Amino acid sequence: MLWQDLTITIVSIVLSLAMLPQLYHGYTQKKGHMHHATSIPTVLGLYVLCFVYFSLGLLFSTIVTFLTGTMWVLLLLQRVRYGDGVSCTKKVHSKVDISFSKEEQQKLEAVQSKVQELFATRTDKVHGFDHAERVAGYAALIASQEGSDVLMATLAGWLHDIGRAVEEHPEDFPTFDTKKTHHELSYELLQKWFREDEQFSILTDEEKIELLYDLRYHWNDEADDYASAYILRDADKIDGLGDIGLQRHHAHTKGNLKKAYMALRLRYEWLYHFKTDTAKRINEDLDLIRPFQEERTRLLKKEITSVEL
Ligand SMILES: [Fe+2]
Ligand SMILES: [Fe+2]
Repeated sequence: MLWQDLTITIVSIVLSLAMLPQLYHGYTQKKGHMHHATSIPTVLGLYVLCFVYFSLGLLFSTIVTFLTGTMWVLLLLQRVRYGDGVSCTKKVHSKVDISFSKEEQQKLEAVQSKVQELFATRTDKVHGFDHAERVAGYAALIASQEGSDVLMATLAGWLHDIGRAVEEHPEDFPTFDTKKTHHELSYELLQKWFREDEQFSILTDEEKIELLYDLRYHWNDEADDYASAYILRDADKIDGLGDIGLQRHHAHTKGNLKKAYMALRLRYEWLYHFKTDTAKRINEDLDLIRPFQEERTRLLKKEITSVEL
């Protein structure tokens, strides 16, 4: 049965090789891609096959099938260890149980739909719609736990990075000076929306001033005129940390080492500047710096080579 043994061995090796990228991505992204319902029957099936091959005297097939089964065990362990990779955000967002009044809901919808429209054709994985949605969720949670105005914090979260669309697509915004920071561009774009767009007449002047302040200073840890300003900054920091923060970091730095080291240092700085107890607690509970510590270790170790006299 030599040819059968060789054929099974070759096919099993090809199947094992096809799994390597999956294992590698699971490790680097700290994600368990494979659902238990897929991995557990596969592991059991492969070990049963392994026993059958052994009983038939197919030695190579037994060894290779055993190795393939073990790789599936590793996929199973990744799922157990890392979960589905979005659990961190889900864990936080699942705690948000906030009901808005009808008027507040209308204000929220006016802002949300405008942000959605802005990013609909200008997809930005790092600072686009998804980021705004997550930051709005974190801001809502923090504001509700801190007894602050949940609506204002949520609106600030949705709006804070609209200037990124101007920065990324200057051709769509010819009247803007794109040499300015995205914070300033966010501020100026929101001013324009407030002046020109009828749907924002639902907001009061006080609310508009507060939001303009929040956007303009979402980089400045001393700009605390409004609770929504520092809640927004805490929420923004949370989304820049943890597993999602690391994915955004990779998409942003695109392998540029100098940029990566600067961004890593900034993450450590952020830990000392969380303002609210809720954000500090989320940081501690979810150990948000861990992915960045691992990334830092990986980068530094990669740079060490032997020395010569
Ligand atoms: Fe920003
Ligand atoms: Fe942001």
